[in-house]
Amino acid sequence: MLKKIALGAALSLGLASGPALAAESEAHTNDYDFSFEGPFGSYDQMQLQRGLQVYTEVCSACHGLRYVPFRTLGYEGGPNLPEPQVRAYAEFYEVYDESLLDGEGDFRPAKPTDHFPESSLSNAPDLSLMAKARAGFHGPYGLGINQFVKGMGGPEYIVSLLNGYTGEDKEEAGAVLYENTAYPGGWIAMAPPLYGDDVTYADDTEASLEQVSKDVAAFLMWTAEPKLIARKQAGFTGVLMLSVLAVLLYLTNKRIWAPHKRKVKDSVPGE
Ligand code: HEC
Repeated sequence: MLKKIALGAALSLGLASGPALAAESEAHTNDYDFSFEGPFGSYDQMQLQRGLQVYTEVCSACHGLRYVPFRTLGYEGGPNLPEPQVRAYAEFYEVYDESLLDGEGDFRPAKPTDHFPESSLSNAPDLSLMAKARAGFHGPYGLGINQFVKGMGGPEYIVSLLNGYTGEDKEEAGAVLYENTAYPGGWIAMAPPLYGDDVTYADDTEASLEQVSKDVAAFLMWTAEPKLIARKQAGFTGVLMLSVLAVLLYLTNKRIWAPHKRKVKDSVPGE
């Protein structure tokens, strides 16, 4: 703990010596292109549906999405599934309902108003907000310039993580750790979940390792920030209104001062 703080402080001061810096910069995130980047980017509905498929068929075996209600899968701007499909998808999951069996509680198929379950593996983190909880890009020296240029890099980190396995593993204190070039520290307890061709897409997209990882990363970005598009639109409208207002204010100001400015000019003798 203390060592970590010391290292962080050294890094932010730009004083880190060779080996410490090397240890920290070992983890590497590649920059991938996503449809939702930039001021006008938006989610690719088909990609979100493919990502949902990857999450369902692979990641959900261990990871939960407990902050995500099933009904949001039918929202515009998201995967936008038709209502009956959302209902059918929810029914795949079972939730514990305390009101059943006269208060004893029992399991029942999930409804669209229920949330995705929690992680089923105790050491697998919930993925609802993961794309915003991780930053792929840092530095130099904690200044955040890379994030200013390339974005925070949450989804990029997830793609890099899923593509970052070297094939090496080791056993440490009874747990198997897998070497990964994107994971800070270099060794992660998650076995490689994807190899390519892990799913068969309905829309004939080739299920290469990179494609599958990008689709699930885009889906996780959507779960972490479902209102991204609305936020960008509101921001754009705001900037547009302020620009119009600025022009009007400039013209008004000119108009108000015009007579006085002329007077001053006229009253200067000899001009
Ligand atoms: C067999 C169980 C299992 C499956 C399947 C699985 N994971 Fe994991 N995952 C884990 C465990 C365990 C960890 C915690 C690793 C650690 O702390 O070292 C983890 C951690 C993660 C992390 C967090 C890494 C970090 O920076 O802390 C992400 C992101 C992640 N998994 C994404 C995925 C995605 C996406 C999928 C599906 C393609 C997936 N996982 C499938 C078990 C799994």
